[in-house]
Amino acid sequence: GKVAVLMGGHSAEREVSLRSGAAVLGALQSQGVDAHAFDPSEQALTQLVDQNFSRAFVVLHGRGGEDGTVQGALEYLGIPYTGTGVLGCALAMDKVRTKQIWQAQGLPVAESVVIRRGQSIDPAGLLRQLGGKVMVKPAQEGSSIGMSSANTPEALTKSLQLAHEYDEEALVEAWLAGPEYTISILGERALPSIRLQTTHEFYDYAAKYQAGDTQYHCPAGLSPLQEQALQQLAVSAFRAVAGSGWGRIDVMCDALGEFKLLEANMVPGMTAKSLVPMAARATGLSFEQLVLEILDFSLT
Ligand code: DAL
Ligand code: MG
Repeated sequence: GKVAVLMGGHSAEREVSLRSGAAVLGALQSQGVDAHAFDPSEQALTQLVDQNFSRAFVVLHGRGGEDGTVQGALEYLGIPYTGTGVLGCALAMDKVRTKQIWQAQGLPVAESVVIRRGQSIDPAGLLRQLGGKVMVKPAQEGSSIGMSSANTPEALTKSLQLAHEYDEEALVEAWLAGPEYTISILGERALPSIRLQTTHEFYDYAAKYQAGDTQYHCPAGLSPLQEQALQQLAVSAFRAVAGSGWGRIDVMCDALGEFKLLEANMVPGMTAKSLVPMAARATGLSFEQLVLEILDFSLT
């Protein structure tokens, strides 16, 4: 039947989604799938039914697409879709609740404090409590949008202002020295981890999509035991927030070399530079095969 590739949307990650969507659409069509682009910011989802689509490949990033809302609408319309369902998407979009669940299950996360918009704080005290340097993130964003680091009270105040432009809640996390790893999940298994080496202070939006100077290492250079531990951690983390089908777990090392879970991405990037396709390639899976595998998971 006809497959709708849902892309675009309204989120701050719209541009990334359009790129991911174009790549997925091209791959599906090249494999003979009757796939069509569908931009939910221009077309109502009910048109999926009117136009006789039998399945949806969700390539929407961020709020309004990766957060369970579109997934809920698709359930309501009775259209099978790729990837994680309503609960998992809603949870994973929210870094605060995701961390709470991981923590409750004994999975490793960095120390952090949640600050609400308008809450009065003592920035110097907060910095001291979290080790002198922090990363500030909007609770619900992707692609590092609204994120910045701070190691002075003045900078922390600015960082919180920035994060609060995107979300009511900001997560202030103890700084992690790195390196950063990302582990792709396909079905029930983890793909080989990728180590990200950026010349930026962290793997920010520019490093992700614009700069050509990020280096990706796959294999990541870990010992077999460490690699296995990291993959197991990623699978546990994915399951803990009700992930299914495919996704990507981001992890960072602290100064002691301990893995700390950062976040779960239920609709990770699928652009030419993206990480899931890179990890798939390392196992001999082409982009086209990857996309077909992901589509297969929407049949059930
Ligand atoms: N949020 C972006 C799309 C990613 O995780 O790849
Ligand atoms: Mg993300």
